[in-house]
Amino acid sequence: MTILTPTSEAGGLDLAALSRLAGELFAELPGGGTNPALAPKPQDLTLNDGPLPQFEAAPAGQAHAAQAPRQGGAAQGVPQAYAAALPLPSASAPSRPVNGNGGYYFINEASHPQASAAPLPTIEDRVTPQSFGLPGQDTLKALLGDVREINGSRDSSGGYYFVQPEQVQAHEARAGQPQTKERSVPGGFDVDAVRRDFPILAERVNGKPLIWLDNAATTHKPRQVIERLAYFYEHENSNIHRAAHELAARATDAYEGARNTVARFLGAASSEEIIFVRGATEGINLVAKSWGAKHIGAGDEIIVSHLEHHANIVPWQQLAAEKGAKLRVIPVDDTGQVLLDEYRKLLNPRTRLVAVTHVSNALGTITPIHEIVALAKAAGARTLVDGAQSVSHLRVNVQALGADFFVFSGHKVFAPTGIGVVYGRREVLEQTPPWQGGGNMIADVTFERTLFQPPPARFEAGTGNIADAVGLGAALDYLQNLGLENVASYEHDLLEYATHHLASIPGLRLIGTALQKTSVLSFVLPGYQTEEIGRALNEEGIAVRSGHHCAQPILRRFGLEATVRPSLAFYNTCGEIDHLVAVVRRLAQRR
Ligand code: ALA
Repeated sequence: MTILTPTSEAGGLDLAALSRLAGELFAELPGGGTNPALAPKPQDLTLNDGPLPQFEAAPAGQAHAAQAPRQGGAAQGVPQAYAAALPLPSASAPSRPVNGNGGYYFINEASHPQASAAPLPTIEDRVTPQSFGLPGQDTLKALLGDVREINGSRDSSGGYYFVQPEQVQAHEARAGQPQTKERSVPGGFDVDAVRRDFPILAERVNGKPLIWLDNAATTHKPRQVIERLAYFYEHENSNIHRAAHELAARATDAYEGARNTVARFLGAASSEEIIFVRGATEGINLVAKSWGAKHIGAGDEIIVSHLEHHANIVPWQQLAAEKGAKLRVIPVDDTGQVLLDEYRKLLNPRTRLVAVTHVSNALGTITPIHEIVALAKAAGARTLVDGAQSVSHLRVNVQALGADFFVFSGHKVFAPTGIGVVYGRREVLEQTPPWQGGGNMIADVTFERTLFQPPPARFEAGTGNIADAVGLGAALDYLQNLGLENVASYEHDLLEYATHHLASIPGLRLIGTALQKTSVLSFVLPGYQTEEIGRALNEEGIAVRSGHHCAQPILRRFGLEATVRPSLAFYNTCGEIDHLVAVVRRLAQRR
């Protein structure tokens, strides 16, 4: 047995030598830790059956793989010999597959931080002296102390830098890494400072500064989100929930951390109520094809409003056709606001679901969503709220709202494309079957039957969009840091300003003039096709959407097939509105 044990000349344990060795051992972090002097020889690791593979000393990060159950082995990404050297799970140091404090996530054991109230193990609990061929716990503790000094990635309590926001900041500041929470806005909303966070706003289009007024289609990403994505790919990239190596833990913690951020952002009771999907459209399809397929039958009724995006019409139409159910529509008044009295008349004992938008993407109407949900509940119906156009403008609290489902898209809230969220009330998710089958969503599979994970894993089959979920977390942190109240009040002023100036252009017709509105200014101008206006604005570097906005029913309600739709975000300015108005005014004067 050739385990290296640093000793002093007097024959005792030499902590200085140990510390030096620790330095060498972890010098190559995060990917290193290959000092052959510390590599236990294969023959030292006699716990394993069969021939042993080459074994390298575990770097600090892998140290907490000591928590991995020994049976993990190579199949779960743990070098077999290393796995063999790990302690067996015991009552005092139980294997804890999922946690927010640097624990590991195994495919059969997924749960979430809130799932267990038991105290989480510290790093000392997860690493045992024998993992490193060290003689005892004291030696190990001394070594870990030095490791923290050397590596800088552990805090004083032994937690991991990517777990606690404050620790993330402290670590990132020390290491010169991108910071997830950089700046609060003292004394209100400083649009010039905010604009500097968005590199793309410095672009030029057709020789003019870009003026981005297509925020209802998608929003731009602050540097904090872009850098968070780069950091993920440079330091954390791994599949999640299924391996006992360091990067799997980092990626899993980052992904589950983002889920916690979303839960906080929405005011959900638990992160187990947050499901990651591609976007709001996929979220609504998930609900239709899982909850809807189980709970909606022949003769049942689904209520939507006239304002809906196609994404909140088509899945319900498909479901209704399949089941023999009926789709009913809440009408709107001439300002584009839903008629609550008409809605009341639609509710009846056959109403199973009310699926309504919070903010209209085509008109900007803010619907009276609290009343809509409350009336649906009183009628015994479930509710789904499409928050795709609301979460970037208004604070949402799903518990206060009381909706059963709430969906939104990341890319409309300053996060990457391809990531979105379904919030589902726990009690409702528990009654909802999976909609897709595959890895990660199962507890156990035989050829005869499959046992599914509880929510949310049950609804996340296959490898998801891990990096962009992490990017979404960074975007929501960014928005929270600005303060949604600051954002809402700034945008309100901007909308008033833009409405006033656009409405003063002779002939221009604003579509959607509800008292409660946010962000959107849909209009038509006599003598012009909407694309012509879109092209003329583009010549001046101004981006707007022109067309039907994937909301044909509501445009037809106003006798139109298309509108020009400038849409605002908090990084827009009155100066940009002036440019928009000047170009449209010039066009109006030409006809
Ligand atoms: N739903 C997005 C929009 O309103 C694409 O433009």
